[in-house]
Amino acid sequence: TRTDKGGHKHFMAKEIAEQPVVVAEAIRSYLPTGSDRVVLPDTDLDFSKLDRLTMVACGTAFYACLTAKYWFEQLARMPVEVDIASEFRYREPPITDRTLALFVSQSGETADTLAALRYCEGKADKIVSVVNVPESSIARESDLALPIHAGVEIGVASTKAFTCQLSVLLMLALKAAADRGTLDDDALADHAAALRGLPTLLNAALDQEEAIRKSAQRLSEARDVLFLGRGLMYPLALEGALKLKEISYIHAEGYASGELKHGPIALIDKHMPVVVMAPRDAVFDKTVSNMQEVMARKGKVILVSDDDGIADAKDGVWSTIRMPHAHASVAPILYSVPAQLLAYHTAVAKGTDVDQPRNLAKSVTVE
Ligand code: G6P
Repeated sequence: TRTDKGGHKHFMAKEIAEQPVVVAEAIRSYLPTGSDRVVLPDTDLDFSKLDRLTMVACGTAFYACLTAKYWFEQLARMPVEVDIASEFRYREPPITDRTLALFVSQSGETADTLAALRYCEGKADKIVSVVNVPESSIARESDLALPIHAGVEIGVASTKAFTCQLSVLLMLALKAAADRGTLDDDALADHAAALRGLPTLLNAALDQEEAIRKSAQRLSEARDVLFLGRGLMYPLALEGALKLKEISYIHAEGYASGELKHGPIALIDKHMPVVVMAPRDAVFDKTVSNMQEVMARKGKVILVSDDDGIADAKDGVWSTIRMPHAHASVAPILYSVPAQLLAYHTAVAKGTDVDQPRNLAKSVTVE
């Protein structure tokens, strides 16, 4: 049934393992077979008529928005603002009738996110939500609700909802790029192919579970862990740190690699594991030099990268987690798997209550 653990020890493990299937479902629903154009359910949404995108969410959904900011800016050349819901409306941000207000929420019931949506009513051109529960309050109060098709998520720490949110947001950015004429047909076809290839890559990432479990075993002895990433991997570093602290209770922080020298480098010593998320992409060399700054101070680097990246940067790292090579735009979706599995196996090694972490709720309906 939809709500048993299907042979897994925890719902979180089951939900991590389901990702190739549910992400494929999300992609199929917006990218019809045989076409490279993203199709949204009955809407006249036209990004060429908009000046700005404002995205608002909490927790893991907020990190999905931070990732999407890179996509909307780079692919669709659209100015984007991202905020956490509890800060957004008290700032009284100006919202114009050429702003698209976009709310991302797994449950569709988070009180702060709903309040932020209501703040935008009557101000924004359109209110769009990306939700897992189509009959939720946030979905009902939106002009357009886009389902992520993740299926019921039970583990308090969000996993499959995150990768499905990312997939839908990337497709929305591609729709924006097509509307605004910022990507040509070849580029759109290239991104569509990358998305369609993603479920296979997610399976390959899941095949690395044993290597990830070994790294997690080492992490479980740490008091603090730092996650580093650059570009599209920066929001994922934040998400990796959030997952780890939520379920293993180890203090973790995510940082942009380049910001390391402005503070957290002071914390690095031989007791500090540093997880570096770095596919061999355009910013890889810069990340490697940040990683070397960590190793020069005896920090213990866990490098998550592809074959090329591991071959280039491996000397002196504590351990490596090997990912298949991926198109840059889908890499944050792929690298979510090792981030989730690292947190999961660290928590299992520590014997914490993975599906019901202390003090946390699946859906927060108070402000
Ligand atoms: C809680 C959950 C998180 C979730 C956040 C936002 O903190 O524990 O996993 O990311 O709420 O929830 P939403 O349902 O709005 O995505």
